Amino acid sequence: MLVLGIETSCDETAVSLVENGKKILSNVVSSSLHLHKKYGGVVPEIATRYHVELISYVLAEAQGEAGVKLADIDLIAAVYGPGLVGALLIGISLAKVLSLSLGIPLAGINHLQAHLYAAFMQKRYPHFPFVGLVVSGGHTNLFYVKDYLIWEMLGVARDDAAGEAFDKVAKILELGYPGGPVIERMARKGDPDKINFPRAYLEQDSLDFSFSGLKTAVLYYVRDQKKPVTSNQKPDIAAAFQEAVVDTLVEKVIKACILKKVKSFVAGGGVVANQRLRKVLAKRLNEQGINVYFPEFKLCQDNAAMVAGLGYQLYLRGAISNLNLEVAPNLKI
Ligand code: KG4
Ligand code: ZN
Repeated sequence: MLVLGIETSCDETAVSLVENGKKILSNVVSSSLHLHKKYGGVVPEIATRYHVELISYVLAEAQGEAGVKLADIDLIAAVYGPGLVGALLIGISLAKVLSLSLGIPLAGINHLQAHLYAAFMQKRYPHFPFVGLVVSGGHTNLFYVKDYLIWEMLGVARDDAAGEAFDKVAKILELGYPGGPVIERMARKGDPDKINFPRAYLEQDSLDFSFSGLKTAVLYYVRDQKKPVTSNQKPDIAAAFQEAVVDTLVEKVIKACILKKVKSFVAGGGVVANQRLRKVLAKRLNEQGINVYFPEFKLCQDNAAMVAGLGYQLYLRGAISNLNLEVAPNLKI
């Protein structure tokens, strides 16, 4: 079964063709990141205009790369939330037009669930039930996933998402945007134990996250230096900050896995590209006898292959949408 996936929830315009939920025939991603850099974050209006301008070219490229005609496609899968309302509307409108004109079904996809499905698109894949962590620029969510259709939200970011904290700390250290990759590179040269930034574990039984206090602690640390921080100090600050994020995420994940008595853990989203996070998660969870699954690097960031893949699984289980599908910018599960 050939599925066309469409992803336009934020700043990536992405179209992909995937066979039977796993075999990626094409995975085209065009990002408007370069247009947002000078603003230090994604500007919704700019992201939306970019989708309008690019979507038909991205679709044509995905078709060309896969060597398929529109008439060969069996199902359209598109992200309907969460995300930027205008941006989501572009992808969903294209999905409806294709579904109607080709006379094929349409599956509306939750972007967060698709991030976790990315880990299924490889030889070694997770088994249900599992605990899933989605960590991106806009989200930090812990889920308990019983099967493709049964999701329970265990915890959520109460303020800044983990990726957002990386982006804001990079701004404080004047390292540019997006912050994750550059903080990670800088942290490799630093000593994480030189500075002790706070870890917000919240109430004892809470699986929620809070990273804004950590970000503020970095801000105050930098402000309280007598002189502007030097390039020699930045690696230690980056390393100490990254370690605090990793510690917090890992503690909550372990707590959730024990609570739900699962043997599998799955991670997804842009922050999962972080090597230190992967290393500590794998080590700490393996010690608890829990198997750990990460998507391959190119499927960590926003893409439409994970969308097409999950669409196939939902279709097999009868969970499809129709032309009344509406965008859901604040979609939870
Ligand atoms: O999933 P994604 O591509 O887009 C959203 O849905 O938000 O995630 C982007 C986020 C950004 O905040 C970026 O700074 C972060 O992922 N990120 C990283 C790394 N690479 C990207 N954070 C930490 N370490 C990285 N290596
Ligand atoms: Zn995402």
